[in-house]
Amino acid sequence: MLSFLKDIITRAGDICLAEQEHLTIDDLAFKSRKDLVTATDKNVEAFITRQIQSRFPAHGILGEESGRSGTTGEFLWIIDPIDGTTSFFHGQPYYAVSIALEKAGETILGGVFAPALGQLFYAQKDKGAFFNDRPIRVSDTRAMENAVMATGFACLRAGLEHNNLVHFNRIVPRLRDIRRCGSAAIDLCYVACGKLDGFWEMNLNVYDVAAGILVVTEAGGTVSDFNGETHFPENGVIAANQHLAPFLVDQLQ
Ligand code: IPD
Ligand code: CA
Ligand code: CA
Repeated sequence: MLSFLKDIITRAGDICLAEQEHLTIDDLAFKSRKDLVTATDKNVEAFITRQIQSRFPAHGILGEESGRSGTTGEFLWIIDPIDGTTSFFHGQPYYAVSIALEKAGETILGGVFAPALGQLFYAQKDKGAFFNDRPIRVSDTRAMENAVMATGFACLRAGLEHNNLVHFNRIVPRLRDIRRCGSAAIDLCYVACGKLDGFWEMNLNVYDVAAGILVVTEAGGTVSDFNGETHFPENGVIAANQHLAPFLVDQLQ
């Protein structure tokens, strides 16, 4: 399974790289005013889906762009063909292909590939997390003033009145610094390898986070919802090392 995942996610990333430089406004559509989708999102998801259906015809598939397909058996592939479509369309490198595999509702395999950055993250349940084939662990940062964190604003895309800006204004002054790269999947993997000390976001979907959450937990990180429970992503997502996760729950619940 892992070798299959690494093969299709890197080939999917190659499609992104080949098509990004030729994108035009004709390749762009809108799921809502700020929720972009490109022809490449659909091409990549179709490629991944074909590979899975060919190799594992008995498996189900949940793709961001095509929804639920295949069987309702115990195996379900969860695909975000391009996490960070806004970055992708604007010619920036902060986007990733994210693919996860659930067995009976538990994520057992996950991969996040940022092709423009040459960064491949993957994890298998109980077998550790890896960045470009090297084992990774979350940071050991303990004080907020020494922490660099990331967040996102899906809530603003949804036009929600209760949104992340109030949390942003309360938390960021307590940190060393904040980042907003445009891909929740990359943010989660950066927590897993210690490039970030923590991440939080609301209004994400399962395909944004399924793979990245496994990478974080297999790297020794803590993942919860805003209440410190496991109802993510619907009740928000917090990912951090074990020292800083309680602070974020305290600030966000
Ligand atoms: C988006 C990215 C972004 C996050 C948005 C997501 P998409 O994914 O992960 O960082 O803030 O909420 O929707 O839409 O580009 O696949
Ligand atoms: Ca996404
Ligand atoms: Ca997407």
